[in-house]
This record gives sequence, structure tokens and C-alpha cells, in this order.
Amino acid sequence: MTQDELKAAVADAAIKEIEPHLEKNTVLGIGTGSTANLFIDRLAPLSERFKGAVASSEASAKRLQALGIEVFELNSVGDVPFYIDGADEVNANLQMIKGGGAALTREKIVAACAKRFICIADGSKYVAQLGNFPLPVEVIPMARSYVARELVKLGADPVYRQGVVTDNGNQIIDCFDFMIDDPASMEARINAIVGVVTNGLFAQRGADVLLLSTENGVERTA
Ligand code: A5P
Repeated sequence: MTQDELKAAVADAAIKEIEPHLEKNTVLGIGTGSTANLFIDRLAPLSERFKGAVASSEASAKRLQALGIEVFELNSVGDVPFYIDGADEVNANLQMIKGGGAALTREKIVAACAKRFICIADGSKYVAQLGNFPLPVEVIPMARSYVARELVKLGADPVYRQGVVTDNGNQIIDCFDFMIDDPASMEARINAIVGVVTNGLFAQRGADVLLLSTENGVERTA
């Protein structure tokens, strides 16, 4: 199977996971990226069965609306029962690196408001140790150089993601050569640097369910 076929299979599995729980007043949290896009496409035919969605990016909001799914502001919704999103890396503890698409901050906010985070990923994302994928850090623009110097002290090789402005008007630094021994502790340490908005480690609050698409089918871990 190609990676796209694996992503499509896990998007199908995510629909099966949430479909029994859809009610007229349900608002779903929806992530960002190519796997999340495939999930959105499969969600659209069910749009009459639930109220709408909160999106973790402008791109996902546009896709949802184009397919007839109403998009709500998170502040008007409160908690959501599910947040469905992809990952750049995920480990056996369902901790993740996210933010390859620069949507990490809104992803973390919607995930924080979700009763269940369902991570949907193809098998290439499953790793023994997080860090081979460069860890994204969203920064306030004027703090970029300072934050980069602090990230060097933590052992990273920080690289400014040129030309990228987040939906929040900020910038992204990617941390290369940065294998992470203790994801929850590193998440907290990076977030404590002045000027950091957030980082792409989803470790203190990881996923509740991992749907992982492999050649042998979609494996579910909870
Ligand atoms: C977006 O900022 C990311 O967190 C995505 O969820 C992640 O990069 C996975 O993307 P794909 O589904 O495109 O691999």
C-alpha cells in the first residue's frame, strides 16, 4: 500500500470510531494536515448527523466549510467530545511531535478542550523515540533569535522556517538533531522559554486513542 492508501484507511477507521457517538448537538475538534483532510472528506457525507466542527487551522476551517460542515469558534463551544488529528511522530505512550504544518498552537488548544484525542497516522509515523522529525516551536517574531539561543542550550540545532507565518501571526523554529529522552519534561522546559508560544511536543497531554494504519490493517491502541 502507498502512504496515501494507508492514510485513507486510517481516515476510514476514524469515521467508524466516532460515528456511533454523533448527535445533533455534537461539535467535533478537527486537526490539520493531509490525514486530517482525508478524514474531513469522509466526514462531510455525515454532516446532517452532527452540529459542526472547531478547526485547528484556517486551512481546515476552509475545507470543512467548503464541504458543508459548519465551523464554530472554540470560545462559543467549550469542550468537544473528540479531537481527530494526525501526527508527525507518535510513540508507544501516545506522545507525539506535531506541527509539521505549522498549526501546532491551535492544535494544542483544541486538543486541550477535547475529552478524547484520536490520533490518526500511517505506520511511518510510529517511532521508538521522538525527535527524528525536527520539533517545531512557535515563537513571537521579536523573540526568535533569543529562543533559538536557548534551544541550543537544550541541545537542539534550531533552524528558522523561512517564509512561514502561522495562523497566529508568529514564526516557527524547527529543532534538528534533537532526540528527546523525556518528552513531557522537554515540552515544559521549552514552553518556559520567554517568547515561545508553544512547542510541537504533545506529551503532557498525548492522544487517548491511536489509530495506526499498517499493511496488516489499522491497529487501535487506547
Ligand atoms: C500540522 O501542523 C501537523 O501537526 C499535522 O497534524 C502533522 O504534520 C501530520 O500531517 P500529515 O497528516 O499531513 O502527515
